[in-house]
Amino acid sequence: MSESLSSVSSSSAGSTSAPGARPRVAIVGAGVMGLSLGWRLARAGCPVDIYEAGIAGQGASHAAAGMLAACAEAEPGEEDLLALNRASQALWPRFAAELEAESGTCVDLRTEGTLTIGLTADDGARLRHLFALQTALGLPVEWLTAAAVRRLEPHLAGQLSGAILSAEDHQVDNRKVVAALLTAIARAGARLHENSPVAKVETQAGKTLGVVVNGALKRADLVILAAGAWSRGVDISPAAPLPVRPVKGQMLALRMDPAAPLVNHVIWAPNSYIVPRRNGRLILGATTEEKGFDTALTAGGQLALLTYAWRALPALEELPILEQWVGFRPGSRDDAPILGPSAEVEGLVYATGHHRNGILLLAVTAKVIAECVLEGRLEKVAEPFRASRFTPRAAAE
Ligand code: GLY
Repeated sequence: MSESLSSVSSSSAGSTSAPGARPRVAIVGAGVMGLSLGWRLARAGCPVDIYEAGIAGQGASHAAAGMLAACAEAEPGEEDLLALNRASQALWPRFAAELEAESGTCVDLRTEGTLTIGLTADDGARLRHLFALQTALGLPVEWLTAAAVRRLEPHLAGQLSGAILSAEDHQVDNRKVVAALLTAIARAGARLHENSPVAKVETQAGKTLGVVVNGALKRADLVILAAGAWSRGVDISPAAPLPVRPVKGQMLALRMDPAAPLVNHVIWAPNSYIVPRRNGRLILGATTEEKGFDTALTAGGQLALLTYAWRALPALEELPILEQWVGFRPGSRDDAPILGPSAEVEGLVYATGHHRNGILLLAVTAKVIAECVLEGRLEKVAEPFRASRFTPRAAAE
């Protein structure tokens, strides 16, 4: 079967909806991806059911730091991903404004920008290299001397070798985004089913029939797989299992005085990042560990976070610890998301594998996957991220 646009059409054989009606949609996973798609599609008139194995929004959506860091995290050879990240960055202000208007919940989109700092001469050399790459890619970045950095953030370490200011790399409070989306989906009329693990996408003759939850078939015209790190646990045969695995990250939060924050920018320091929230939470992240779904907070992981962050911001040693936690990034084989219709099962759509960029990519994912469902087209910027890039035939072509 081709990945033609008709593979997500509501007029497919076996449709549970009347001809011309909006498709009935089942969404697997109630993280920010599933919730935002539920919101968009219910608002457009689709009957929507969102199935969540546990409690909505408590996976990576809860664990993330909320950085919208397309420029600071740009890497060589990832131009397609950079284009997607930048497209999402551009969509975020409107996405946040709409979500706030429809939910009545502020999501704290902060626009001070991100500082990637160097402490040693070696860090400075690495930063210069990154700056050259960012400049060659046409990104909106600015080189700052140590003195200029200190004027912006006086509490940073005494010895700095310079910094890159990424003025368009903003941040949002991801936990507030979850809260806002829960209100928005309820107002839009989407039904949320918690503690309802989806074991299987049921198919007949290569077409989606719905999802199997606690042994019962829940019929749908279209199924969107948005289960993050848990996506591989859903049987989607005859489609191949998705190459998505959990990438563990330990994090912690300290408590600042919100009236006298130690920093206002997001800080990328060597081996760590520091994210200040308006309410005084100072988030330190994150380890990157290949340990499956291991939920252990370890002394070594927490020590590393505190040590690297303390080197960049020594004054944090006075702050009380508020919270320590573990999250699971949905890492794909090439660290890029998996978006769009399945080539193997008609009526199955993917919105998963967002790895380190889940919150950043939320705005563009909500847009392109909602369009995919409603209009049967996948926007050009999302084309490189079809699941078919992992199949041997696509590789040979
Ligand atoms: N994007 C930050 C992280 O994955 O830790």
